[in-house]
Amino acid sequence: MLPTINFTETAAYKYLADHFIDINKKSIKQLFAEDESRFDKFSLLFEDILVDYSKNRIDDTTIALLIQLARECKLEEAITAMFSGEKINQTEGREVLHTALRSPIIEEILVGGKNVVPEVHNVLNKMEKFSNQIISGNWKGYTGKAITDVVNIGIGGSDLGPVMVTEALKAYKNHLNMHFVSNVDGTHIAETLKKVDPETTLFLIASKTFTTQETMTNANSARDWFLEKGAKKEDIAKHFAALSTNAKDVSAFGIDTENMFEFWDWVGGRYSLWSAIGLPISLSIGYENFKQLLAGAHAADQHFETAEFEINVPVILALIGIWYINFFDAETQAILPYDQYMHRFAAYFQQGDMESNGKHVDRNGNDVAYETGPIIWGEPGTNGQHAFYQLIHQGTRIIPCDFIAPAQSLNPLGNHHPILLSNFFAQTEALMNGKTKEEVVAELKKDGKSEAEIEKLAPFKVFEGNRPTNSILLKKVTPYSLGNLIAIYEHKIFVQGIIWNIFSFDQWGVELGKQLAKSILPELDNNDEVTSHDGSTNGLINQYKSWR
Ligand code: F6P
Repeated sequence: MLPTINFTETAAYKYLADHFIDINKKSIKQLFAEDESRFDKFSLLFEDILVDYSKNRIDDTTIALLIQLARECKLEEAITAMFSGEKINQTEGREVLHTALRSPIIEEILVGGKNVVPEVHNVLNKMEKFSNQIISGNWKGYTGKAITDVVNIGIGGSDLGPVMVTEALKAYKNHLNMHFVSNVDGTHIAETLKKVDPETTLFLIASKTFTTQETMTNANSARDWFLEKGAKKEDIAKHFAALSTNAKDVSAFGIDTENMFEFWDWVGGRYSLWSAIGLPISLSIGYENFKQLLAGAHAADQHFETAEFEINVPVILALIGIWYINFFDAETQAILPYDQYMHRFAAYFQQGDMESNGKHVDRNGNDVAYETGPIIWGEPGTNGQHAFYQLIHQGTRIIPCDFIAPAQSLNPLGNHHPILLSNFFAQTEALMNGKTKEEVVAELKKDGKSEAEIEKLAPFKVFEGNRPTNSILLKKVTPYSLGNLIAIYEHKIFVQGIIWNIFSFDQWGVELGKQLAKSILPELDNNDEVTSHDGSTNGLINQYKSWR
């Protein structure tokens, strides 16, 4: 059982509330001036990842108090509970063991008295064999041709992870063309099917439950298309595989359970890219690279489980997040990778974070009286700079940002990478330092502007600065370092959920919309006027019916 402590009633919280009044008066710039060792103090090197959190509105006391807060909220006990396979997903009565998916075979993790690590490795071995067969071309389609295209059909956690990782590691990919279909909008599957040939395409039906409406609708359309194109039912075995926990429905769909890659209900959907759900990753970059991804995540697991909180990357990042959300009233958190390959990283953690910590009921079943999960968003730099950074620099809101960049480019082309990185360094510096009125006036004077013009323009050109950022500098994006990074963010989400006293591993909030859609669908079957809903919903449905 997880602890059920209201963090706003801890001693640390009260100290932090007082301390906030002091810190709120200070600028980060001033804090740097006061402490020469600030960078050394507030940066961590984990493997080949430098996490610099010195450009935050914190000092030694802030970190000490935040760590005290984590201790008072019994974070240590909660970490042990997760890693040891306690049923910490209490509302669903499940263990939370995505960490077991990246455990070496020598480890033992018990679920209901049974060591799950051997089963995990059995599936990994099966994935390895299958990946090798497909990549080598030894696996033949129904007309004897090798597979050239892989279409993953899944949504949410059965899509976002594989999409994000295959994109982030595109530089490591082989000849297979990867396609991902998630949206139930027919356009998604229709446009994908235009690009592929039934004789050389492998469909992966990725669904933990194998009941998700969007995925099953797309899977049925893919199967219909495959059969319409001339293949026979018995050919399905060569072209369809399932990634699921639900063997019964997989075989009812017509997929040979030999082609089913299993995982378990102790793997949350949004934490499942390490499981059979990662098969498209293994196909795209090869099993050896997939193994490296797992190894990187495992290293981060060990760090999270064993490092003192003071030097524990996920813990520190989580606590800084809490500081902004609960004391500075920050509503959002931007994730800004300066790496084009990582263009889906923020989207991936939109689900990871918002589906986990978007909760307003605490672990006692009471409404919380404080903010919980932030709105996660972001786009790669430098594109974001020319789109929404204006608001980060000069808007009225505080937006803590994580800037992420690799020191080594996977495409070292001319001067591109130094230019990219100069922007990465400049943005956090600009956000911290801002530009004072005096600096603006001096600049305008230098440009030859008149006193009157300067007076008029200056207010708009002032940047107040003091805007907090973390900089995460990776040596290079590799399967291993990406594994490190994803696991760091996963554990950050866990820490925040523990402190907020919420359950991070269920997602009841997505159910209501699903239920209503199911009840509306039959009402769309005919042209009768609908009157069973509120005025707006009736009006919209009836207009749709008249226009379709
Ligand atoms: O959106 C809700 C959700 O249950 C996610 O948590 C999950 O990742 C997604 O749907 C897909 O579920 P499944 O893998 O069972 O199709």
